[in-house]
Amino acid sequence: MLVVEHLTKRYGGLVAVNDFSFEVKEGEIVGLIGPNGSGKTVTFEVISGFDRPSSGTISLKGERIDCLLPYQVLGKGLARSFQVVQTFERMTAYETILLAALHRLPMKEARKRTEEILDLIGLTARSHRPAPKLTLPDHKALELGKVLATSPQMVLLDEVMAGLTEPEARVVMENIRDMRRRQGLTFLVVEHHMDLLNDLCDRIIALSFGKKIFEGTPKEVATNKAVIEAYLGAEVSFD
Ligand SMILES: Nc1ncnc2c1ncn2[C@@H]1O[C@H](COP(=O)(O)OP(=O)(O)OP(=O)(O)O)[C@@H](O)[C@H]1O
Ligand SMILES: [Mg+2]
Repeated sequence: MLVVEHLTKRYGGLVAVNDFSFEVKEGEIVGLIGPNGSGKTVTFEVISGFDRPSSGTISLKGERIDCLLPYQVLGKGLARSFQVVQTFERMTAYETILLAALHRLPMKEARKRTEEILDLIGLTARSHRPAPKLTLPDHKALELGKVLATSPQMVLLDEVMAGLTEPEARVVMENIRDMRRRQGLTFLVVEHHMDLLNDLCDRIIALSFGKKIFEGTPKEVATNKAVIEAYLGAEVSFD
């Protein structure tokens, strides 16, 4: 589904992502981990067209997407959430999702889809509340709903469970699994909560200082020396 080859992103002298290659297969849920500042969000920015790679290529379903604009990437079926939740001041949860659904559907179908999504993310009862008045778990659910409303085939989720309690996060996880089961969606998920991520993902990729240091099963990641060192800050190298 998604193939990233030799992706590098520089900001002046800083190499935020360094020669990063990986693949996500159709229907997979892959976790992307790494300490703060290791390049996870930058990877998402570049894949989703919000920023340009300095070098390297990105393909979705065999088609290059690394020279497209965000709305064009979305049009190809790849949607993303934002780490910092963004809501429109005056819009309700219902309107926010409807707006996203209208990206692909005519009004009548978009309304139907909006209701289905609100139900799926558990926001039906509060759907007419202004979005800024929602609680954090509801905000996170809305962010997920907004992504789904665009009818994507592949979804990048940046810390959609951050700040939630474990039971709240497990509800989100169930929703993600459900979407894969029912709609065959493919996911690349950034999350700091390792237990949750290990339960959710088929595969885990780890970054440290923009470089891939590990790729394997959730079982393998817990005992991987490079990953443990990256998180503990031992043997840090700045090359
Ligand atoms: N627009 C930008 N301009 C300059 N530097 C940037 C920009 N965006 C990110 N960076 C830098 O790139 C590096 C990687 O940042 P990134 O946001 O991808 O980290 P992250 O892995 O998502 O971290 P976190 O877990 O804290 O969200 C950091 O050093 C960051 O300061
Ligand atoms: Mg980030």
